[in-house]
Amino acid sequence: MLKNDLLLRAAKGIEVERAPVWLMRQAGRVLPEYRATRAKAKNFIEFVKNPELACEVTIQPVDILGVDAAIIFSDILVIPEAMGLPYQMIEAKGPWFENTIKNQSDIDNLKIAELDDLNYVIRAIELSKKELNNRVPLIGFAGAPWTIFAYMIEGSGSKTFSKAKQFLYTQPDAAHALLEKITQSTINYLKGQVAAGANILQLFDSWAGVLSESMFYEFSLKYMSKICDALSPLVPITIFAKDAHYAIQKISETSCNSIGLDWTINPQTARQQAPNKTLQGNADPCLLYADEKKIISETQHMLSTFGKQKYICNLGHGLYPDIDKEKVKLFVNVVKEYKW
Ligand code: CP3
Repeated sequence: MLKNDLLLRAAKGIEVERAPVWLMRQAGRVLPEYRATRAKAKNFIEFVKNPELACEVTIQPVDILGVDAAIIFSDILVIPEAMGLPYQMIEAKGPWFENTIKNQSDIDNLKIAELDDLNYVIRAIELSKKELNNRVPLIGFAGAPWTIFAYMIEGSGSKTFSKAKQFLYTQPDAAHALLEKITQSTINYLKGQVAAGANILQLFDSWAGVLSESMFYEFSLKYMSKICDALSPLVPITIFAKDAHYAIQKISETSCNSIGLDWTINPQTARQQAPNKTLQGNADPCLLYADEKKIISETQHMLSTFGKQKYICNLGHGLYPDIDKEKVKLFVNVVKEYKW
């Protein structure tokens, strides 16, 4: 039995005493303790593949920041690698793929990832569950198929992801074939995360915002919806589609339990569009550059607008690396001490 199950209750729409709080990208970047652990590994990929080190940085934010959940330390790009498309993480630049997907025959050469290909994540989850000792829930995650597809075609980050979008317009059948393979791989992977102990899941569609509305429904939401149908009978699942502000109602028609919101979305509008779902978000990460007074007032305003029930407090996207950890702690404490 979990000692603190606020996150799970909130996600399922069960009554809570206060809103739970965690932060996207809490495992890493802002904590000096993270950087110290990271220095023990040769590079980012070796780090992700080392279950002991991954477990260490998964627990750090729970101990140091006092958040109501841990998120397993890994990366969304373990899926392309498990399918046969390895990547590198270039310092100060980000992900880079030596080979990219150009046509149907490249897609035919990819495998559907099985748990054996991702054993190190499963092991990291098992270790983290042991170390957490039921203090708080453990969040598992994966990239949304569209976001993974975007990296596999583009080969790196991009402002526009125009190569990936070109593929959707010029080879739509091949695009669907690849999205389907990623979806099946992700379902295998997330089922394994749940079996290893993940209590709740999140899909990160970080690049939803480069698609038009109709393209988002056709090439992204359809596949996230399939993943939710496969996983929501097991544990609650959150869809976070960054910048897809127009899609909240459509997302609420899937079998997800909660919807992650970026900071451009008005909480009241989101409530009207998704009355049946829990909402998660949505402070601007840059708020944490402000002075203490501003952080407190903006956070309290956000809490009062969302309301206590069916709400998970978070940022509207991940923490930036140069945010002061004391400001992050302040944000967490404001939520925990708020008088509802
Ligand atoms: O809370 C957590 O940080 C949990 C672990 C986590 C990482 N990546 C570790 C990581 C999670 C949830 C992710 C998700 C992820 N990875 C996303 C989706 C979320 C989002 O922010 O939109 C995306 C798009 C990626 C791909 C990725 N990984 C990029 C673009 C980069 C480089 C830039 C960056 O974010 O720093 C990474 C590297 C990465 N993944 C780091 C961490 C802690 C930083 C690398 C380092 O330690 O040097």
